[in-house]
Amino acid sequence: MLEQDIKKVLISEKEIQEKTVELGQILATEYAGKNPLLLGILKGSVPFMAELIKRIDIPVQLEFMTVSSYNGTMESSGEVKLLLDVDTPLKGREVVIIEDIIDTGRTLKYLKELLEHRGANVKIVTLLDKPEGRVVEIDADYTGFTIPNEFVVGFGLDYDGYYRNLPYVGVLKEEVYSS
Ligand code: PRP
Ligand code: MN
Ligand code: MG
Repeated sequence: MLEQDIKKVLISEKEIQEKTVELGQILATEYAGKNPLLLGILKGSVPFMAELIKRIDIPVQLEFMTVSSYNGTMESSGEVKLLLDVDTPLKGREVVIIEDIIDTGRTLKYLKELLEHRGANVKIVTLLDKPEGRVVEIDADYTGFTIPNEFVVGFGLDYDGYYRNLPYVGVLKEEVYSS
């Protein structure tokens, strides 16, 4: 059903799974003894976060924030809106932001500055990085895959709110968003 709308698979379910194992081990080593707060950014990070946290074999806590700037469309509005905040004190805390993608960089730049202003030590892990999309300067500390400048959906990434539940990352057929 969903598959009919996909032109090509960019990153398979298996590749994602192997990468999350790898990233999980790196994070477990990096944060051993530090009890980090893993901060998922709703809604796109949900599948990646669910997969990744199983592979981080140290004590961690989870929190979520909701920010949005695409409103389901293909183009960033340029304005990042904070829709749901954490209610935990972050001063002095090791925070790992978990994201599905860095594109223009606006979302993560906004979040990193906000959290650092509250006194957190912030690092970023992202499943996907699209360097060609960047309009502000920001980099992830840990990246799953670097992708070309294409509009991608699946594994958390949406078009008009849909396709987040695809188990892989793919490119939509043109006819889907031209109609
Ligand atoms: C998407 C994506 C990232 C952000 C990346 O979120 O999940 O959070 O955009 O784009 P940027 O680097 O250009 O800021 P979106 O605002 O679509 O909300 P969603 O996660 O609920 O889909
Ligand atoms: Mn998002
Ligand atoms: Mg979105």
